[in-house]
Amino acid sequence: MNVPRTDELATRLAELRDQIRHHNRRYHELDSPEIPDIEYDELVRELQELEAEYPELATPDSPTRQVGGGPSATFAPVEHRIPMMSLDNAFDRDELLAWSQRINRALELDVGAGDSLGYMCELKIDGIALSMRYEQGVLLEAATRGNGRVGEDITANIRTVSVIPHQLEGAPPVLEVRGEVYLPVARFDALNESQEAAGLPRYANPRNTAAGSLRQKDPRITASRGLAFWAYQLGEVVDGPELSHQSEALDWLGSLGFPVNPERRVVQTIDEVIAFIDHWQEHRHDLAYEIDGAVVKVDALSLQRSLGSTARAPRWALAYKLPPEERSTRLLDIMVSVGRTGKATPFAVLQPVFVAGSTVQMATLHNADQVRLKDVRPGDTVIVRKAGDVIPEVLGPVLSERPEGLAPWTFPSDCPVCAQPLVRPEGEAHTFCVNPVCPARQQAQIEYFASRGAMDIEGMGESRIALFIELGLIADAGDLYFIDWDVIAGLEGFGQTSIENLQAALEASKSRPLASLLVGLGIRHLGPSGANALAAAFGHLDRILDASVEDMAAVDGVGSTIAASVCSYLQTETARRLIDKFRRAGVNLVGPEVSSFPQVLAGKAVVVTGALEGFSRDAAGDAIKARGGKSPGSVSKKTFAVVVGSEPGGSKVSKAEELGVPMIDEAGFVSLLETGELSR
Ligand code: IVH
Repeated sequence: MNVPRTDELATRLAELRDQIRHHNRRYHELDSPEIPDIEYDELVRELQELEAEYPELATPDSPTRQVGGGPSATFAPVEHRIPMMSLDNAFDRDELLAWSQRINRALELDVGAGDSLGYMCELKIDGIALSMRYEQGVLLEAATRGNGRVGEDITANIRTVSVIPHQLEGAPPVLEVRGEVYLPVARFDALNESQEAAGLPRYANPRNTAAGSLRQKDPRITASRGLAFWAYQLGEVVDGPELSHQSEALDWLGSLGFPVNPERRVVQTIDEVIAFIDHWQEHRHDLAYEIDGAVVKVDALSLQRSLGSTARAPRWALAYKLPPEERSTRLLDIMVSVGRTGKATPFAVLQPVFVAGSTVQMATLHNADQVRLKDVRPGDTVIVRKAGDVIPEVLGPVLSERPEGLAPWTFPSDCPVCAQPLVRPEGEAHTFCVNPVCPARQQAQIEYFASRGAMDIEGMGESRIALFIELGLIADAGDLYFIDWDVIAGLEGFGQTSIENLQAALEASKSRPLASLLVGLGIRHLGPSGANALAAAFGHLDRILDASVEDMAAVDGVGSTIAASVCSYLQTETARRLIDKFRRAGVNLVGPEVSSFPQVLAGKAVVVTGALEGFSRDAAGDAIKARGGKSPGSVSKKTFAVVVGSEPGGSKVSKAEELGVPMIDEAGFVSLLETGELSR
């Protein structure tokens, strides 16, 4: 057997402790972690295992015996009367089962004989732990966890969090409430949009942003961030009600006015715990906030007391960590892609890395400023983040792993595709290729024109468009209607049927609504709802061509930014030439009869299956379309809702179930037509 030597072990242990202390400081004090959580967890795990195996090498000051980081100089220290502990982690089922067996054994329960332990399943909110002290029902003090014994006084900042009560009715004389402060994803995205517009660095993730927001010296900044809070634990309580279970404690906190996460569940078996975890693993991005796992707690407080705690964490609770959404990998290169508006976007070419359910090889770097601010360089190790359906993003370099002599990256001066100079307009965050005949722009514009959200030309995808451009058959979307089919007929891979299908798809696209054509032009700022509004208000493309900015801006749902953008686009030579081609091809330029319905379903697809009492199938489809929606014949993950009548089609229902698409009845449909929203 290969037994490591004691001095080698001691060196490794010291190294691990130093690294963990370093990362604790970056995470807890500087709000700027250098490595992804998963890698930090791996270091802790290795240290724990070595210390367990070689107890003689364990030291009392090891980070495995301490919680988090130390308090900073900015905020006054607050001593927690009851320590704020950390949680032990499980990363897979086996570890969860081992924990449950351990505690069942310790409590001398016999699950096989029918003994059952209630488990409280909660979400593990990815935010910042907070402890708040109320005396006589008044919020006196709010503190971070710090090292578990001493935290930081952030009362002034916490008072700005609107969901946190300042005063309580019917509270005991002393009440400490613990929970997680977090930043809702929508607030995080909005904050990053304004950072980017101002040429400032994007924030890495909602957790770090929440931490930074709480550490502000000026509470007005904290207030502007839109932080929120979930309560999940009691601290010190004097003369409180008799509570026997964690679930009861949470209900009580809710009744006092604290936000308590509704996605909690008491279950009796570990299989049900696993079902809870599996559900949230699948649906974590349906939530308005980020979670990094689930927390399982023994529900009965008396059993919690019997189980007790280690130096760091209670034995009666376990954090089950979901797969990470951040990973580190090597940045192989930085390249620039050119989109349909000519926008030149830098992107990272990565050593493939598996993150959040798929392999990531490319990730956006947003724009020149963001690359400069992040200072990522080809050859760096970088942290990549992929949250849900969001496009993967490079957060930043791991500086401690940067090879020596790595040169900074500079934005190219010329378009990588057409070699014309790139232009960055004054005051703009983005750089553009302004050559209207740049092949990259042509390709992206035609793809967009043919896409589902615009003219929906079935079969006209990326590779065919690229081929037709290469052959000189098309240079813009208008050319699609004048393709020389004789040339295509001689090409490999184009049989008669596929040509006929393509011709039929092009023919069908000629009668799409005017709004689809407007969307297909790819005018900056003009989305489906603006296009619908313009088409409905003017009724004909020629009237839109004649309209002034003021005329357009006066249309409900248009606004001055869209109006200015549409107007200036329509005056360009490119637009006039394109529209001329559409006119010659016989593409529909006429808008709908002015719809008397608000466009509440703009951009939404609603599928109808089965018979409805108040609508024929056509009438249901017309009602959806009159409100700006689509009524396709099949269910996909983009479907907004499925209306289920009597004797519905089995495949649509099962597809909706499989994809988690909401299903509504006729009453729900009527309300959807009115409000555009799903009624509860
Ligand atoms: S209970 C003694 N419940 O996870 C038990 N913690 O990794 C104290 N967290 O420090 C924690 N959601 O910041 C608990 N529902 C939840 C939680 C939760 C998030 C955080 C908390 C804790 C950390 C441990």
